[in-house]
Amino acid sequence: MSGRTISGKEVAQHNSRESCWIIVHGKVYDVTEFLPDHPGGSKIILKYAGKDATAEYDPIHPPDAITTNLPPEKHLGPVDVGTVEKVEIVITDQEKARQERMNARPPLSEILNLHDFEAIAKLVMPEKAWAYYSSAADDEITNRENHAAYHRIWFRPRILRDVTNVDWSTTILGQKSRMPLYISATALGKLGHPDGELNLTRAAAKHGVIQMIPTLASCSFDELVDNAAPGQVQFLQLYVNKDREITKKIVQHAEERGIKGLFITVDAPQLGRREKDMRMKFEAEDPAEVTSNKQEDKVDRSQGAARAISSFIDPGLDWKDLPWFKSITKMPIILKGVQCWEDALIAYDQGLAGVVLSNHGGRQLDFARSGIEILVEVVAKLGELRGLKFPNEKFQLFVDGGVRRATDVIKAVALGATAVGVGRPFIYAFSAFGYEGVDRALEILNDEFEMNMRLIGARNLKEIVPEMVDAHNIHQHVVAVPGDRLYDNNYEDMQIARLRDIKSKL
Ligand SMILES: Cc1cc2nc3c(=O)[nH]c(=O)nc-3n(C[C@H](O)[C@H](O)[C@H](O)COP(=O)(O)O)c2cc1C
Repeated sequence: MSGRTISGKEVAQHNSRESCWIIVHGKVYDVTEFLPDHPGGSKIILKYAGKDATAEYDPIHPPDAITTNLPPEKHLGPVDVGTVEKVEIVITDQEKARQERMNARPPLSEILNLHDFEAIAKLVMPEKAWAYYSSAADDEITNRENHAAYHRIWFRPRILRDVTNVDWSTTILGQKSRMPLYISATALGKLGHPDGELNLTRAAAKHGVIQMIPTLASCSFDELVDNAAPGQVQFLQLYVNKDREITKKIVQHAEERGIKGLFITVDAPQLGRREKDMRMKFEAEDPAEVTSNKQEDKVDRSQGAARAISSFIDPGLDWKDLPWFKSITKMPIILKGVQCWEDALIAYDQGLAGVVLSNHGGRQLDFARSGIEILVEVVAKLGELRGLKFPNEKFQLFVDGGVRRATDVIKAVALGATAVGVGRPFIYAFSAFGYEGVDRALEILNDEFEMNMRLIGARNLKEIVPEMVDAHNIHQHVVAVPGDRLYDNNYEDMQIARLRDIKSKL
């Protein structure tokens, strides 16, 4: 970046496809040559050509996206902030209505369970953000199965045990946690709230739970670590870059900054088709553009927020890369997204610290099985083939997807999980209520743990044993009850394609 301070007037002259400068966080960038390569399409950048694009840029990009994607000679220098014309923000009727709904949120004391956060978030979130957070792959069957699978597991409680004192704290990868759950990595936190993932960092600190920082966080990695409380434990979720030097830098920096576990995502060699997200992006386009067959963009723009930010992920990642990861870090390495016992066994044999049995919240392969179902087969097979007993200190099993109640967590612990990951409920909590929402969500889970530990007759997690659950139906793939109204009320049906010009009448 040159030292020259550039005036807003000069930037404003570069407002076309032929010469396109934009301002992000007080710095000027020449993005002319980058236009056809922008994963979100050139049109959105051209809207801000010659202007300050920070407000549009922030929620959808990790902070360093522009600096890493543009060669240094395109970083033109700081702008003279006083001379920049303010971008006019048009508040649409739709946005006004949303803000009214925001003002009509119920007090947090009326939020009684994690489903409630989702119900309110759906009403108050910007449409694009809701589409990105709630969407899942294809027909979203796995997304719904994740939750439904817990309905096929029933309790066998023990009675007449002194449950005056109950304790559900545990150790995850050698780190203390006040609950057998952690906040799983979810990208683009600022789509839901201006403080993004910081809401999670702060609430995790207060409640003594672990936060997994995503590679694609909206806040910078260092910001999330800097804002952690002394001694607060954080993990890192890693998307492996095609450029291994970048990955090495990220991993080693994380270790230096005190990250206690490296979760390598292995279920996303390509991002799944998340049609709610794609449809939202598509509908935001100008209809004339859509049918005009313009060829100037090299990238498919109809892919939604998710695909737009993930083109760097290496589909060539392979088992044979794992020794390299072990050679560059001493952090425990866990594979996130293992979906059958065969792969869990290889991970164990390769000396990894554990696996997350997960289908990425139903956002990747539709008809992938739920983590809780996979847990049952992994525990059985690794017991049979390697004599392992779970929960196991040396090789830890985690599960995520569809967890909405402490009873779900207790079921997973009974079946051998060290802990579970929770994704959407926390991002819905901060989208609707900011930090206080996440704080309340964790408080609700604590209350649910206390009551349910007493009701099944377990004073600590060691007393939650496999005999306390009946999971014989787990592989049946039939929802045991005709529906869970709290969940179903929130679940938003997918849409079919509609004719453009008469859309409003349908
Ligand atoms: C909006 C959103 C973004 C996500 N981003 C990532 C990500 O960047 N990396 C990753 O490994 N998993 C990601 N996940 C998956 C979560 O880590 C987790 O596996 C999943 O959300 C668990 O399901 P649940 O949302 O039903 O709790 C994301 C999930 C959601 C909902």
